[in-house]
This record gives sequence, structure tokens and C-alpha cells, in this order.
Amino acid sequence: MANVVVVGAQWGDEGKGKIVDWLSERADVIARCQGGHNAGHTLVIGEKAFKLSLLPAGIVRGGKISVIGNGVVLDPWHLVSEIEKLRGQGVEITPENLLIAENAPLILPLHGELDRARESQASVAKIGTTGRGIGPAYEDKVGRRAIRVADLADDATLELRVDRALVHHDALRRGLGMEPVDRDALLAALREIAVQVLPYAAPVWKVLNESRRAGKRILFEGAQGALLDIDFGTYPYVTSSNVIAGQAATGTGLGPNSIDFVLGIVKAYTTRVGEGPFPAELNDDDGQRLGERGHEFGTVTGRKRRCGWFDAVLVRQTCATSGVSGIALTKLDVLDGFKTLKICTGYELDGQKLDYLPIAADQQARCTPVYEEMDGWSESTAGARSWNDLPAAAIKYVRRIEELIQCPVALLSTSPERDDTILVTDPFAD
Ligand code: GDP
Ligand code: IMO
Ligand code: MG
Repeated sequence: MANVVVVGAQWGDEGKGKIVDWLSERADVIARCQGGHNAGHTLVIGEKAFKLSLLPAGIVRGGKISVIGNGVVLDPWHLVSEIEKLRGQGVEITPENLLIAENAPLILPLHGELDRARESQASVAKIGTTGRGIGPAYEDKVGRRAIRVADLADDATLELRVDRALVHHDALRRGLGMEPVDRDALLAALREIAVQVLPYAAPVWKVLNESRRAGKRILFEGAQGALLDIDFGTYPYVTSSNVIAGQAATGTGLGPNSIDFVLGIVKAYTTRVGEGPFPAELNDDDGQRLGERGHEFGTVTGRKRRCGWFDAVLVRQTCATSGVSGIALTKLDVLDGFKTLKICTGYELDGQKLDYLPIAADQQARCTPVYEEMDGWSESTAGARSWNDLPAAAIKYVRRIEELIQCPVALLSTSPERDDTILVTDPFAD
């Protein structure tokens, strides 16, 4: 049976939530493998819109197992409130259909406080994080002082872990002019939330390996986008996890040979939230129009997303680093009515032409885009469900993208609605 990894191939918000929801009909298990509640995935099903940050998008479908893998950093208070919110929308969530890795590290209130304190230091250029403590929680994971889900089950271990973390954090907080952490209050809060989280705790690596052996189909749901990857993104303006497809294996405990198809999710233009280089960014009427037509406001922070033309250089690069087998091209409908469209096909840097984004931050910031122009289309593609519904100019645009990124289109999305999707190649086909 085929297992599929969904990975964002730009700077996030490519429409992963909608595509994962659509694909999850064909899957048995849906697993998150990195990031945390910095993600914001919107699904539209008929009249209902679901906004998910931490829970896998597959949770809204009945009869599926949703998994939060060890690669995720888990805010237990956020988890409980997101579960409550979804239950309020009629979604059933029980330990039968939601499993959380016992070895997932926790995000504590002190992580969010540190994240926001650093972002407000005027002397350091800010990253524009979501302020949810993602970076500090991953730092504690690799610093071997994280509190993990399993630690909630044993009070003596929990105390030891808290003390270890506080030696580090109180010193850091003093330096930043912050109050030390109230140890007893933190312990009390953790003991209280433990009761609500522990019923979902499971040896996820084992469950997933058994599912695989039983021939179940596993869908790995990536958050963020490959240009926010800690190694291959626009560092330091990135998130603190690996986002590229290889993370699906380490973030869940399945071997890399369990991945059969990597689906890159790609928006038909480009957006970015937060700071950092963005060669094809538009600060003109076209950029404004993309933002308005695409409703480009962040799901998590409400921030306006920066918009630009499609950048084929970046997507070719992310398709390579994630080994993308095929892409899902989303939001094609947002381009309806543009007389002319531009695609970035290369960069100019110090008089040289480049066909990739260099690693050095100063060079990234100085890259200027080289564009190719294409005719737009006046017809509507919104809601199209077959190639035959698309105008010739739109098909030409899609074909040109495939050529430039050296990767075929497997799915095409033409509205936020679940069923407004064109299937070209089934990622789950054996
Ligand atoms: P994610 O973070 O990758 O899951 O993406 P977001 O949910 O943050 O942002 C994508 C937005 O675009 C959501 O509001 C979706 O409902 C919407 N969307 C997804 N696909 C399409 C599409 O093909 N056309 C349009 N117009 N909107 C879409
Ligand atoms: P989804 O899954 C877009 C960005 C933040 C910031 C940087 C670091 O919805 O695509 P962090 O809080 O992670 O330390 O912030 O990463 N960022 C995202 N941008 N979509 C996301 O998730 C993002 N998650 C983080 O804006 O620039
Ligand atoms: Mg999003």
C-alpha cells in the first residue's frame, strides 16, 4: 500500500489543510510529524470551516486514526482547547481516533514568554515568529531538558524534569529582565493538564509500524513550508524544525522506506508571513490584488501575508530537497482576471544570473528576480473540477510551471471547498 507525505513547498499556507482533508478520504491514518500550533490549516466542508493548528486535518473525517508524532512540539493547554473547539463543531475526538507520541516534547508557558521577549528586543532583528514558543521548545528538546508527554505520568520524574529546565530558564530570564518561573505553579498546572493529555499518549512508532504491516495507508501531514526548514530554509528567518519530507520518518518513527509518494503543496503564486527575504515580492497593485483575492491573512496571528508572483526557482529547489513526486497546485482561481502573469525563472546577483537561491542571507536579500511574462485569462476557474473546465491560458500557465520546476502536477485546487479539486495522478495509487 502507498504512503504519502504532504509537504509545503513554499513558505507555508499553500493550502496543505484542504489537500490533506481531501486525501484523507483515501487514507487510514493521518500523522503530523513536525511543528506545533504555529501551523494554521483551514478546511472548508460545505457550510463549515474548520481551523486547525495542532490536530491533524484528518480528524474531521470519521473512521480515521489521527496521530501527533514525536517530531511535533505539543502545547497541552492548546491541545485541550483545540479539542474542545472542534467538539463544539461536531467533531468526535477520543483516545480511539487521536494518538499522541509519548516522546513528544511539551511547549510550556515559559517557552511562549521567551519567544515573545526575544522578538521584542529592539537590538536584535526580529524573525516575525508566531509567538507560540516553538523555537524555545525545540531548543529544550535538543538541549535535553524538555519535558515529554510520558513524563506527565510520573510525578517524581516530572519534578526532576521541571527543575532541570528551570536551572536553564531562570538564568536566561534573569538576563532578559524577566521574573523567575513560579516552580510550584508550573508543576500544579502540569499535574492538572496531565489528566487530560495522558489518555491520548501512545507508542506511536509502534502503532504506525503495525499499521503499515497491516497494509493501512498512512498520510503524513507536513506543517509550514520547505523554505521555513531549519536547514534548507531562508535561515535565520525560518521555523525551528525540519519541514522537508525526510522529517516524516524521524518525526514519527517509521523508516524512510515507508514513504512512497511525496506530494508538494504549491500555491499558484507566492506568499510569506513574517520577516525574511522574498525575491518575487510585490509591493504594488498586483500584490495587493493577490492578497485580497486570495484572502491572504494568517490563520494563527491574523497578520497580512506578503504576496508575490510564482517563483519557479524556489519551488524547483524545494521539490529537490523534499524529493517531490508530484505537486498539488492550489489557488489557481486567485489568478483569474489578471491580464498578464509573471513567473520568476532566475535571479540576478552582482551581475550574475543564478538558477537557485544562494544560502548566504545577505545574498538572498540582494537577489533580484528575472521574470517571464505569460498571458492571463478572463474566464473564471473557481470551482473547476476537470481540465476541460479550464481556459487554455490557465492550462498553459500550469504546464509552464511543471516545466520550470521539473515536476508534474498531481492535483489542482480551484477553491477552498473540499470537492473543488482536479485529480491528475492519485498519490495513493500503488
Ligand atoms: P495551509 O497552512 O497550507 O493549510 O494553508 P492555510 O489554510 O493557512 O491557507 C490556505 C487558504 O486558502 C485557506 O483559507 C484555504 O481555505 C484556502 N484555499 C485552499 N485551496 C484553495 C484554492 O484552491 N482556492 C482558493 N481560493 N482558496 C483556497
Ligand atoms: P502553516 O502550517 C506560514 C513562520 C512565522 C515566522 C517563522 C518562525 O500554516 O503553513 P515560529 O513561530 O514557527 O517560530 O515562526 O515561521 N511560520 C509560518 N508561516 N505558515 C505556517 O504554518 C507557519 N508556521 C510558522 O510566520 O516567519
Ligand atoms: Mg497556514
